This record gives sequence, C-alpha cells and structure tokens, in this order.
Amino acid sequence: MRRILVTGGLGQIGSELVPYLRDKYGYENVIVADIREPGEDVGPFVKLDVRREEDIIKVIRENDIDTIYHLAAILSARGEQNPQLAFDVNIRGLYAILEAGRKTGVERIMVPSSIAAFGPETPKNNTPNDTILKPRTMYGISKVTGELLGLYYWEKYGLDVRGVRYPGIISWKAPPGGGTTDYAVEMFYYALKGEKYTCFLREDAVLPMMYMPDAIKAITMLAEAPSENLIHRTDFNIQAMSFSPRELEEEIKKYVDFEVEYRPDYRQKIADSWPRSLDDSAARREWGWKPDYDLQAMVKDMIENLRRKLGV
Ligand code: NAD
Ligand code: SER
Repeated sequence: MRRILVTGGLGQIGSELVPYLRDKYGYENVIVADIREPGEDVGPFVKLDVRREEDIIKVIRENDIDTIYHLAAILSARGEQNPQLAFDVNIRGLYAILEAGRKTGVERIMVPSSIAAFGPETPKNNTPNDTILKPRTMYGISKVTGELLGLYYWEKYGLDVRGVRYPGIISWKAPPGGGTTDYAVEMFYYALKGEKYTCFLREDAVLPMMYMPDAIKAITMLAEAPSENLIHRTDFNIQAMSFSPRELEEEIKKYVDFEVEYRPDYRQKIADSWPRSLDDSAARREWGWKPDYDLQAMVKDMIENLRRKLGV
C-alpha cells in the first residue's frame, strides 16, 4: 500500500484528488500538506511550506512517504502579478521537493505541468507534444523548468517523476487559485446566482479545457502506468475539449438566462500565448489516455452539481 503526500492539497485539484486517492489507497495513507490551514476537517494534514527542504524531509520520514503529488504552485495570473513569488514557490519549491525526495528515497513524484509551458511561437492548433517551448510568463517558465528537472532527476537518480500538461481545469467543489482559465468556473457561479458576469478574456479566446474527473483520471492513470511503456515522462499533452468564453456562455444559456460582458484585461495576453488545442497522441499511445467529458457533458454536470451546492 502506498503512503502518499499531496502538497498544495487544499487547492482546486488537491481537494478532489485527495478523496480519490483515499478511496483507492486508504484514508490514513494520504496526507494533505499545504501552507494554509484547512477551514474544515480534511483528515490527516500537515502545514508545510514546500520551499523548506528540511521540513519536507521531516514530513516524509515521519509519515513514511513513498509517493508525492506535488500540487503546490502559484498559477499563471497570480504569478504575473507577483513573478518573484511564482519563481520562489514553483521553482525553488519544486527543487526542494525533488531534493527531499532524492535524499529520502521517495519512489515517485507527480508534478503537473501546464499548457502554459508553451509560448507564442508554438503551433496553436493540435499542438505537438514535442515542440517549441518558449513561454513568456513566470508560471510557464517554471513549468518548463519543472518538466526538465523532473526528467533530469529520473535519468540521473532514478527518481520516478511524471507529469501531464494540464489545460484549464473546470470544477465545482473548490474554487480555482488564480489562473487565466478561471473565467470558465466563475461563469457558472454568476449564471446560477442570476448575476451578470464580466469576462476578463475576449469572447473568441479559444483554450484547451478539461473537467475535473478527467483531470483526476489523467494524473492517476499516468502515476500507475508501467514505467517501461513511457517514452515521455514529465511532459504529456492531454486534450479533452477546447472552447471560447462565448461558446461556454451559449452552452450555459441552454440551462439558465445569463448575461456576459467581455472586458479583456492583462490575462488576455497570457491566453494569446497558449495553444487552442493539443495533440495528445503520446499520452494515448503510452498510457491509454482518453477523456470522458466534452463541453456538453461537462456543462450539464457542472450545472447539476452547482445547483445542489448553491441550493438554487
Ligand atoms: P491551486 O492554486 O488551487 O492550489 C495550490 C495550492 O498550493 C493552494 O492550496 C496553496 O495554498 C498551496 N500553496 C501555495 N504556496 C505554497 C507553498 N509555498 N507551500 C505549500 N503549499 C503552497 O492550484 P491547482 O489548480 O490545484 O493546481 C495544482 C497544480 O496543477 C499546479 O502545479 C498547477 O500549476 C497545475 N495546473 C493547474 C491547472 C488548473 O487549471 N487548475 C492547469 C494546469 C496546471
Ligand atoms: N489553468 C491554469 C492557469 O490558467 C493553466 O495552467 O494558470
């Protein structure tokens, strides 16, 4: 049975990954770590700043950890408002996790990358897995660094680091943490509360997106994939759906009356540097990736769950 540490475990993805892992590997075997205190009982929890290698080593040893899902990060939009913090948490924090893992003999570390690893020179449609990586955000730079560091630790030390390049993740349980794709979650809340939404991206800004159940499926499938099948390791494209804010608005309007105004801000420039859709054939070939949700299925499920959650 695995002993798993999930850093940044109180965030958007951690809030749903942790229950999934606990069902699979046992409640007590999955420890949530975060720099903030939980607002409610989240089961086994440690307060941990991922920039502090000695503290990470202590947590790994005290809890007999063999697997880490390293989710602690500063996302793209927040990262452009404070690039120094993004560098510190995303690059120094990852280095501390890798070093702590190497020194304590951790077996596997899952490190999500992002579509932010790409940049303006990258082909925008059906973006190949292996292509130009020249991001212009500190977040994107940290993601390319993470992909390369992970590969380095695998080849040099045999530390099994793996990762997918997540697109924008849409979910209803926990709010997103400051990304360029957060509009796609915010739109649902405004629609269901009957409020007008002002979208910070252009109406035609198409980006790759994914519903949370597929995001959990992807990272856990890759974690359990036989090592000998993997040609890539830390940098898998995964595609589920691509849409613009206007297309999402139209789909939500099939369920509720809703008004959206488009007033792009600094986040539009970030979106402009990212792909519209991804070629995920490497993930399909090497570990059997296949998404379950398209735009229609995602919107239906989001509306049903948010109606229940918000009591509307
Ligand atoms: P999030 O912002 O919702 O959660 C990140 C968590 O990290 C927060 O709970 C925060 O308190 C914690 N944290 C921040 N600094 C920390 C520190 N110094 N030490 C410990 N914890 C710290 O992020 P998320 O959406 O859950 O993303 C998880 C991972 O997936 C990140 O690597 C992110 O880059 C990646 N990713 C997410 C998306 C998305 O759309 N959500 C898309 C692509 C990639
Ligand atoms: N959803 C993420 C962001 O917008 C992509 O990594 O930052």
